[in-house]
Amino acid sequence: MNRTEKTPLLEVKKLEIGFTQYFKGTQKRTIKPIADLHVDIHEGEIVAVVGASGSGKSLLAHAVLGILPGNAICKGQIMYCGEELTDERKIQLRGKEISFIPQSVNYLDPLMPVGKQVQIGLEKSQAKKKQQELFCQYDLQENTSNLFPYELSGGMLRRVLFATSVREGVRLVIADEPTPGIHPQALSEILKQLKKFADAGAGVMLITHDIMSALEIADRMAVIKDGRTVEISEASAFEGKGEGLQTDYTRRLWRALPQNDFDLEFRAEGGTELCP
Ligand SMILES: Nc1ncnc2c1ncn2[C@@H]1O[C@H](COP(=O)(O)OP(=O)(O)O)[C@@H](O)[C@H]1O
Ligand SMILES: [Mg+2]
Repeated sequence: MNRTEKTPLLEVKKLEIGFTQYFKGTQKRTIKPIADLHVDIHEGEIVAVVGASGSGKSLLAHAVLGILPGNAICKGQIMYCGEELTDERKIQLRGKEISFIPQSVNYLDPLMPVGKQVQIGLEKSQAKKKQQELFCQYDLQENTSNLFPYELSGGMLRRVLFATSVREGVRLVIADEPTPGIHPQALSEILKQLKKFADAGAGVMLITHDIMSALEIADRMAVIKDGRTVEISEASAFEGKGEGLQTDYTRRLWRALPQNDFDLEFRAEGGTELCP
């Protein structure tokens, strides 16, 4: 059976997210940063969600996880294994079947040693041993386990975050910008780890602005701009001059990368906060 015949693990359709805000004291207005997003992820597949800063990548992740702020108004459909992902199911599955690797290291508790934080959610009798294995896997020395987040470097904190987020039995991994501030060896380790999840049958949503790293592991790339899905293409279409890509926007984005033509005009239009 090919991908299109199977029920996707996750399917987001026509997602809209707005926020009600008060201004001048009592007047209310609604802003709508997400206007029309769609994406689907199958078992064993890695879909990279790429887009400039502010395009709505984290909101997409937060909508799937059910962790949008209280003033958010969310419309559209989110299906998980063919059934609607209701708020109740989101709570049930979050941190278990659906694992989240957040963007900010501020998700870590500043008052708890990092080793303890990695042990949360692990079975008690095995927790210490598992934590040690995870530390080893993420290139963290065992003697850092008693340290507090402020005592660790940014790259180490990212790896701790990864170790706290990933549990056995996970079917969908949502990684929000897991790579910034990470040294190259750990970067490749993290990409490898995400790949391993997919090889074991999990679906992976890799949110990033780093197109080249995403292409190392992604099966498909979803390009989003100003809260809309512009294009979803096979990763293999990102090659040459982008002849296989569907939209002019994505083609220009691709060609603006330093590795390609370094399209200065597109850069000057501000189209490529995405490009290093
Ligand atoms: N709580 C919020 N209230 C109002 N606007 C928000 C809120 N969170 C995010 N936004 C807006 O939504 C847009 C998309 O945000 P986000 O998903 O964080 O972008 P990305 O992760 O792609 O950088 C941004 O313009 C941001 O200002
Ligand atoms: Mg973000």
